[in-house]
Amino acid sequence: MSENILEFHNVCFRYDADENEAKLPFCVDDVSLTIQKGEFVAVLGANGSGKSTLAKLSNSILIPESGKVLVNGMDTADESRSYDIRCTVGAVFQNPDNQIVASIVEEDVAFGPENLGVPPEEIRTRVDDALRAVGMYDYRFHEPHKLSGGQKQRVAIAGMIAMRPECLVLDEPTAMLDPQGRAEVMATIRKLNREMGMTVVFITHFMEEAATADRVVVMDHAKILLDGTPQDVFQKADTLKRVGLDVPMAAQLASELRSQGVPIPKTVLTAEEFADSIHNLLEKKTHAHS
Ligand SMILES: Nc1ncnc2c1ncn2[C@@H]1O[C@H](COP(=O)(O)OP(=O)(O)O)[C@@H](O)[C@H]1O
Ligand SMILES: [Mg+2]
Repeated sequence: MSENILEFHNVCFRYDADENEAKLPFCVDDVSLTIQKGEFVAVLGANGSGKSTLAKLSNSILIPESGKVLVNGMDTADESRSYDIRCTVGAVFQNPDNQIVASIVEEDVAFGPENLGVPPEEIRTRVDDALRAVGMYDYRFHEPHKLSGGQKQRVAIAGMIAMRPECLVLDEPTAMLDPQGRAEVMATIRKLNREMGMTVVFITHFMEEAATADRVVVMDHAKILLDGTPQDVFQKADTLKRVGLDVPMAAQLASELRSQGVPIPKTVLTAEEFADSIHNLLEKKTHAHS
């Protein structure tokens, strides 16, 4: 039986307005969502739809106004559990520069476990393991501010992994990176999920990145609009367009070719799948002529 690591039950949240002003509207409005251990879930949504707030509600940075968030069954509103909750769900944010605290890579990665009171010998192992997991071990003595954006973000992820969370929530970790940096970070996240079994909640505005998740959740105006496999969600091109989102480039191209009579399957979402389907078509054609 699968277990839920994260449960949102009818969660509402709004930020405080300045004194004497009317209350701000809910930016997470009656959201219910469960994430199972080991899942890789992408979260999409236009700017301001509530994604970052959802991320901050998932490890008690923010507490619901009503409803409940449970992390391994622990209520994030229960302050006595906040240490365990933050050890279970680690959060990585958009700007790696705001997440780097030390002047040497390995010291930066050690910062989190040191704060947790992990014994020094154990910290050594955790830091080395975490740096290897993100492919930054060879840079352990480097200065973080001299690294590329993708490398810095991988160091920030290593800092989270060194705390050995069961779940990583990543809030647009690739948004400020160049294509090379994005690819490095995506490969790292995928490896943590597939090889180390880490649960991943991955907020992004790149459709191509979301297409590789097990499941895609789409937020719109503080609510969950769609929740399903990438195939299910990206079939709904009109709904996505209405809320300011697109389908992945490869899916769009495939759909245009289908409308011209080229038989490309509707399941094609990524560039790789697209290339494979074209390859298959060409092979069939070669066989038909031989
Ligand atoms: N600290 C804050 N104080 C007041 N309003 C905020 C704050 N942070 C976000 N908001 C508002 O809450 C809504 C949701 O924001 P956010 O969760 O950051 O959305 P997203 O990450 O999808 O862009 C937006 O309308 C945003 O302006
Ligand atoms: Mg955001």
